[in-house]
Formats: sequence, structure tokens, C-alpha cells
Amino acid sequence: MQSAIQQLAEAIQRSPRVVVLTGSGISADSGVPTFRDPQEGLWAKFQPQDLATPDAFLHDPDFVWQWYQWRRKRVLSVEPNAGHRALARLAEVHPSLTLVTQNVDGLHQRAGHREVIEFHGNIHRNHCFDNGHEVRIKGHPEKPPRCPLCESLARPSVVWFGETIPEPALERAVGAARQADLFIAIGTSATVYPAAGLADLARGNGATIAEINPEATQMAALDISIRARAAQVLPALLEEG
Ligand code: APR
Repeated sequence: MQSAIQQLAEAIQRSPRVVVLTGSGISADSGVPTFRDPQEGLWAKFQPQDLATPDAFLHDPDFVWQWYQWRRKRVLSVEPNAGHRALARLAEVHPSLTLVTQNVDGLHQRAGHREVIEFHGNIHRNHCFDNGHEVRIKGHPEKPPRCPLCESLARPSVVWFGETIPEPALERAVGAARQADLFIAIGTSATVYPAAGLADLARGNGATIAEINPEATQMAALDISIRARAAQVLPALLEEG
């Protein structure tokens, strides 16, 4: 693994434009279950795919809202881990490093990462269902509050299954991937598009493709593969850098 870390450190050194795509695996080391880990407790019998949809919300707004309230509380109860922190430091040392995250937990920002492209939104923000007005939440309401401007229900500002990626995030991520010299996928199963397609855009630009993940994934044609946990690899990468 050491030689692969050295290889990746050298690739970062020589690449003017680095794009990093993170998934829930980088937050696993903070104790946040990955997207496809079995859900816990009350939510154990539900699949995220059944709750994170506009239809599920319309069908039972209170229930979906309570799931997000539980997730927000859980995420706020954990800390960014060594992987988040090392990546934030790497981005300081390499200002051309663009971070695209599929995670909605805000842990990259809490680790001090300044510029984060939130491809799937952010669980700590809410907007109203009908018009997208930002809705600021006071306290911990058990039911979705109503928008002060149009009275429609507040919903989490995350991208639900069947919804499109926010245009600004999509444009910035696609633009960066298209010009990448190095693309590093960290903690993602690379199964959900369009995020998973960013690697293909980078490859189309002749980028070196790297992956940090303890398991094999659907990422094809890897030039560098580090089969280990992000919280272990990223601090070592920073050391090498
Ligand atoms: N370090 C690095 N990778 C890890 C770690 C770790 N400590 N622990 C687990 N992983 C890897 C797993 O091997 C898996 O490949 O993280 C990946 C998590 O994959 P998923 O659970 O599919 O999560 P993700 O890829 O982020 O899902 C993408 O799918 O459901 C949608 O919107 C949701 O953003 C999510 C998207």
C-alpha cells in the first residue's frame, strides 16, 4: 500500500489540476453509516431509496422529515475524522484541488475544507417544496415547518432520487472533471450517476484515475488503487506530499 500512496503523492505533485470525488465512505470513519450500510434503530426496516424521494415526502411529510431530523442529529453528534482533515490540508497545499462530494453531512466543511461542491446538497439546509425558498429552521420541529413566503412545506436541501443535480454544482463539477490531470475517488461505490460519470470525463482528458476504498468498486481502468480506509490513507498521503 505504501508504494501506491507514494505513487499517488507523486501524481498529486505533478498534476496541475486535481479533482477529488468523495462518497459516504470518507464519513464512515466518523461513525456515519455509508449509504448502503443497513440503516439502524427505528429506520432499520427502511431503505434510503424509499425515503429520499419527493413522492415519499408528499405521501408522509412528517415521517420523511423525522428521518432527516434523526440523520441531522446523528451527523452533528460526530466529528470530522482524520481523512476529512487531511483532505482539507491537502486542498490548502494544492489550491487547484477541486473537491466534489456526494455527501450531505457537511463534515468536509466542519474539517475546515473551504471550497466544497455539494453535488447532492446539504442536510443542514432546507427549502420549501413548491418554490425552493430557503427556510431557516428554529429548534427541532417534529413536523416540516411551512415556508414564511409561500406557506409550502419545508424539505431538506438534498438531491432526492429522481431529482436533478443543482445546476451550479453540476456545471462546476463537470467543468473541473473535464480539465482534470488527476481524479481521485474516495469512499464511493461509484454506482450513482451523474457523480459516477465524472471519472469518465476526467479519463477523457487523459487524467490519471485513482481510488481509495477498502473494497473493489465499479470504477474502471484505475491507474492507482489503494485498498484501505480514507482515515488511514489521507494522513499518510499528506505526510508524503
Ligand atoms: N474509507 C474509504 N471508503 C470506505 C470506507 C472507508 N473507511 N468505508 C466504506 N467505504 C466505501 C465502501 O467500500 C463503499 O464502496 O465507501 C463506499 C460507500 O458506498 P455507498 O454506500 O454506495 O455510498 P456512496 O458511494 O457515497 O453513494 C453515492 O448514492 O444513494 C446515493 O445520494 C446517495 O450520495 C449517495 C450516492
